[in-house]
Amino acid sequence: MSAIKKKYKRITTKTVVEMKANGEKIAMLTAYDYTMAKIVDSAGIEIILVGDSASNVMAGHETTLPITLDQMIYHASSVVRAVERSLVVVDLPFGTYQGNSRKALATAIRIMKESGAHSIKMEGGEEISESISRILTAGIPVMGHLGLTPQSIYKFGTYIVRAKEEEEAEKLKKDAKLLEKLGCFGLVLEKVPSKLAKEVAQSISIPVIGIGAGDGVDGQVLVTHDMLGMTHEFSPRFLRRYLNLYTEMGEAFKRYISDVKSGDFPSKEEQY
Ligand code: KIV
Repeated sequence: MSAIKKKYKRITTKTVVEMKANGEKIAMLTAYDYTMAKIVDSAGIEIILVGDSASNVMAGHETTLPITLDQMIYHASSVVRAVERSLVVVDLPFGTYQGNSRKALATAIRIMKESGAHSIKMEGGEEISESISRILTAGIPVMGHLGLTPQSIYKFGTYIVRAKEEEEAEKLKKDAKLLEKLGCFGLVLEKVPSKLAKEVAQSISIPVIGIGAGDGVDGQVLVTHDMLGMTHEFSPRFLRRYLNLYTEMGEAFKRYISDVKSGDFPSKEEQY
């Protein structure tokens, strides 16, 4: 496999906007801990998302709602310690920014100060515009997130494709333009029809990073544990698995257990 050419020494919010302008696709993955972030960063990924999907992947919750601000800061600071090149984006957790722009700013400041991350991400459009504006006034870069917004799962009721109907699609298009106007440096578009996603990406100058949003956007994001096949219950159409680590790790654990029980491990060479 050919080496990824690292054209940019350090990825900033300006880099990703420039990449869109140059027609270069942007690759984004999640990480929640030091070791994974180190591997993802050195592979040449442009953006590492410390997603609130940590609530599902790391803590085993059914939704992203339970994760706390302290837990997000813990994950983000572990990731930041590993990263040399990627842009680190951290999700503001549910309940820390909706409906109160002062609280939103305080949340964003805590994340930036205590984790050392480079930017934050928030779910929603017009309804959270005051919070986005206030955070931007503090010089904190903001990434938006539209389409399927998992923090609103109890409003939607299901994780099915969003904005298939005209009314929701129109609102989404308006929200994307609003996020650009407010000064967001990019946005995630989750689980929407690819035709709509392409139209949105072509209508704004900031990069649109898709997850289940087709090939007409400016980049792609996946949850790392899903694309590595560490999780196996979750198989949406948009997910490409690059490894099958659930099985491979399970096999390694079984071999280890068997080696311990048989006395094969440790060998004479593995002792002091
Ligand atoms: O939390 C997360 O991992 C996300 C991605 C699915 C975009 O928001």
